[in-house]
Amino acid sequence: MYAGGDGLKEISFPLILVNLKTYREAVGELAVKLVSIAEEAAKAMGVCVALAPQTVDLYRIVSETNAPIFAQHIDPVGYGKYTGHVLPEAVAKAGCAGTLINHSERRLCLGTIKNTVGRAKEAGLIQVVCVDSVKTGRSVAPFDPNVIAIEPPELIGTGIPVSKARPEVVSGAVEAVHEINPRVRVLCGAGITSGEDVAAAINLGAEGVLVASGVVKAPDPYEKLLELAEAARR
Ligand code: G3P
Repeated sequence: MYAGGDGLKEISFPLILVNLKTYREAVGELAVKLVSIAEEAAKAMGVCVALAPQTVDLYRIVSETNAPIFAQHIDPVGYGKYTGHVLPEAVAKAGCAGTLINHSERRLCLGTIKNTVGRAKEAGLIQVVCVDSVKTGRSVAPFDPNVIAIEPPELIGTGIPVSKARPEVVSGAVEAVHEINPRVRVLCGAGITSGEDVAAAINLGAEGVLVASGVVKAPDPYEKLLELAEAARR
């Protein structure tokens, strides 16, 4: 298992990053419960499972659990007059390991992605930048984020796995990103629901998955995470 060395001390690869979005099953006390379950599954399998809950749940979850926690979004603002924005330093002070940036459901323009990656670095947050295509992956790689996650938006929440339906997008993103910046880790996401989907992702060169509904809405999230982690560590 990868154990840091490039500023990613709080996570390791293969990585399963679970985005809790605004799912009813994963807000407030239910989010705390799900994170605790994920922590147990990660421990049982020896695979890193990180989670990205709602912003207002971050501090509570960090206080009550030990899993690496990510914000779903931050704003590229500093201390001062920015009412309603998510300050990167506040997320870091809440104890978060990192943040998603430019998720398909919280899209940013390229200039803002660049500034947000920069602000996340200043705040000491791991940056996971989501991209919707190989082309955007190529544009983002020079910003030197820790991780790029390729997610074709049309497959999100469908249960149709990117690693099987669009394998060329996953391998294409890995190749394109590494050609420009070999330090960037590449994850893939959208429609991942089974161990088979995770294994396919790893075979295509991804170092893990970004997953949401497949875990959050699973009848038994613990069993589901064991299945995904087992496939990831092979
Ligand atoms: O952030 C992960 C996400 O967009 C993928 O969603 O439900 O297809 O796993 P899902």
